[in-house]
Amino acid sequence: MNVIGIESSCDETSVAVISNGELTANLIASQDFHVKYGGVVPELSSRAHLQMVVPLLKDALKKSGLKISDIDLVCATAGPGLIGAVLVGLTFGKSLAYSIDKPLVPVNHIEGHIFSGFLMEEKPEFPYLCLVVSGGHTLLLIVKNDLEIIKLGSTIDDAAGEAFDKVAKMAGLGYPGGPKLQASAENGNPKKIIFPVAQLKGEYDFSFSGLKTSVLRYLEQNYGQERIIPDEDLPDITASFQDAVVRALMKKVEKAVKQNNVKSISLVGGVAANKAIRTAIEKIGQKFNKKVVVPDISYCGDNAAMIAYRGLKLYENGKRFNLSANAFPSLPPDTFKSPK
Ligand code: KG4
Ligand code: ZN
Repeated sequence: MNVIGIESSCDETSVAVISNGELTANLIASQDFHVKYGGVVPELSSRAHLQMVVPLLKDALKKSGLKISDIDLVCATAGPGLIGAVLVGLTFGKSLAYSIDKPLVPVNHIEGHIFSGFLMEEKPEFPYLCLVVSGGHTLLLIVKNDLEIIKLGSTIDDAAGEAFDKVAKMAGLGYPGGPKLQASAENGNPKKIIFPVAQLKGEYDFSFSGLKTSVLRYLEQNYGQERIIPDEDLPDITASFQDAVVRALMKKVEKAVKQNNVKSISLVGGVAANKAIRTAIEKIGQKFNKKVVVPDISYCGDNAAMIAYRGLKLYENGKRFNLSANAFPSLPPDTFKSPK
């Protein structure tokens, strides 16, 4: 069984191949040109996906020693994401599937992240607690099996990645915010400034908007409206912000591990690349004697390996789709079940 995965939801074009259960290619073309605009420009992103997807497919097949006629299944991200960008990958996937007369599986990008731990040698065990932290989503879930996902909580405002990106911008670090903020925080004292963590009604919900505002107030009070931050002060500020994000996330993870019977814990999504968050979740795993699965960095950010894996699982579970599958810009509200 040779499976193609296609991912194009944001600023990474990616094509992957899973051949007889083994990942043989996971090629990712990152659109670095957005840097000069300080963020992703949707239309430019769509055009770049269009340019990259065919050469990436050719290279991925070559790397896997396969021809187009060897493909048995095509899986493509259908959303959530920038709608024009999603449409490029999904439409390409549909056309490819149609032209070789093979099935197409549209994949929910967030579900791709949720199961990305299975790309690792050491895999999560069901049921597992899954913390999804990406640029657009922050979700705490119980993954019971391949088809049943229970939502414990989510962010009521900004996503964790969005908070990293916005604070990085405020502090003059630019785009992409997350990795730049982490690099700055590495030399700082995370306990220098105690930024507040939101207290929320929903016991597993998150909020990062207040934290973002309190960083902005701190910067304005100490460095004026222009926010000219001396180089020597910046690491303590970024480390303290990062520490507040870690506290906000881990408080809910710890509570969920205590109150739910899970076998393992998985941290996924672009922000799962963050060292401080990775270390903190490992500590919780040790404290409660649970296996922790955090994918390698190449499977944290957007990639097609997770899309191929998820699409294949859906197909193996008897899910069938037709070529009229729609692209969707945001996560449909009923995507994950609420606890009874
Ligand atoms: O999953 P992802 O690649 O795209 C979405 O599906 O949104 O996540 C991208 C997010 C961005 O907000 C980026 O700043 C953040 O992940 N990110 C990080 C790090 N690397 C990427 N945030 C914190 N620390 C990092 N090392
Ligand atoms: Zn993503």
